[in-house]
Amino acid sequence: MSTRAIVLAAGKGTRMKSTRPKVMHELCGKPMLWYVVRALHEAGVGEIVVVTNPFIATYVEAQGLAGVLQEEQLGTGHAVQIALAKMAPRSGPILIASGDMPLVEGSLFREAIAALDAQTALALVTASMPLPSNFGRVVRDDGRVCKIVEVRDCTPDQLAIDEMNAGIYAFDEAALRLVIGNLRSDNAQQEYYLTDTIELLLAAGRAVVPVKAEDHRTVLGINDRTELAFAGKVMNERLCRRHMLAGVSIVDPATTYLEPDVAIGRDTILLPNTSVRGLTTIGTDCEIGPGSCVLDAKIGDRVRVTHSFVTSATIDDDGRIGPFAQIRPGTRLHRGVHIGNFTEVKSSELHDGVKANHLAYIGDATIGRDTNIGAGTITCNYDGKAKHRTTIGENVFIGSDTMLRAPLTIGDRGATGAGSVVLHDVAPGETVVGNPAKPVRKKSTAE
Ligand code: UD1
Ligand code: MG
Repeated sequence: MSTRAIVLAAGKGTRMKSTRPKVMHELCGKPMLWYVVRALHEAGVGEIVVVTNPFIATYVEAQGLAGVLQEEQLGTGHAVQIALAKMAPRSGPILIASGDMPLVEGSLFREAIAALDAQTALALVTASMPLPSNFGRVVRDDGRVCKIVEVRDCTPDQLAIDEMNAGIYAFDEAALRLVIGNLRSDNAQQEYYLTDTIELLLAAGRAVVPVKAEDHRTVLGINDRTELAFAGKVMNERLCRRHMLAGVSIVDPATTYLEPDVAIGRDTILLPNTSVRGLTTIGTDCEIGPGSCVLDAKIGDRVRVTHSFVTSATIDDDGRIGPFAQIRPGTRLHRGVHIGNFTEVKSSELHDGVKANHLAYIGDATIGRDTNIGAGTITCNYDGKAKHRTTIGENVFIGSDTMLRAPLTIGDRGATGAGSVVLHDVAPGETVVGNPAKPVRKKSTAE
């Protein structure tokens, strides 16, 4: 039978000073809660119940997790009480963690479960931390854990203890159910503390064993935005490291920002000040950056993106983007397309070998292979009311500073002179010039 878990996530998170619930604040593109759930899955937890407030209930449901609403936040012990009340009793271990510890790793949950044996009612994760700290202090007597005292309830001696309650618990479920109803709220915060189960379990003759987390950073509970930024930095370091060990070169991990779902091929180089986000996939031997932002993009092999933005677009092998280009949603650039400085492409399909190297806007267009788009070209796709498409054939030459008023079709091998304002379709092989553009000569159709 797989392990079950309760994630505590209903707290208000007052110290975030936010209208957004604490566990929904993001680091590296995902809410804190997402990371905790991922770590639980890594540890083989099959059933997860999240204690929610009304502001995160929708997210929890959308993630396919079970949620239990805690109407009033009366403390961590109360949160566990109401979760257990909704879960059919079972024997075996149950994990409890908080939704605000995004740096936690699955291995720590597994260690906690492994520390439970027949005598033990609770394996409690503890961590040594630099003082001062807001974590609850682990009080030992003769080496044995005897209680946890919250900072606000600590004596000066207890405040000097540097072993903290990480907020991760593997309980024997039956033992937890026996004591959870007996918690009292006679403490500084007038809350029902889950941590008070320790004394109740010990009084019932059950054992509580500590499990030391090696690195206290993995159990950091995020309470304000400075801690969130710190956790984001640590998470980003982990992501960079994972990709570097898998064959990606990252010149400066400190200024390279990655998110958990990105996939990057071997021998690709990420240059400084670059972010690769969302569901982006990047092939092998690419050079992304410096100064580039790539979001939800699909990028082939040997592509270069320099000082540019790429969003929700596909760039096939051997593409060259930038410097200073923007590739916007709905764009597909086939093999070997070059998009140069100050060129924007939106909702367009550019076939193999198309070049638009300088100062152009290409929106709602289809462009055939090996066509050259001159400097300053604009597809005038918007007439003030609606967007219209521009279709340009293969091997077309669009002269500098051409205005293409959509809807418009330019046939294969057509051409426009510099400064043309093209209002009407251009036949295959035809060249138009002027404002409004008119045909000048027809190419031999024998070509
Ligand atoms: C808690 C522990 C403390 C530990 C620390 C580790 C208790 C009493 N204290 O303190 O010993 O060192 O975590 O990070 O457990 N929550 C609910 N409902 C509530 C109250 C809280 O769901 O009624 C959730 C919060 O959203 C949060 C988690 O429980 O995710 C912990 O609550 P928080 O208020 O952050 O507790 P700490 O003061 O950090
Ligand atoms: Mg906390």
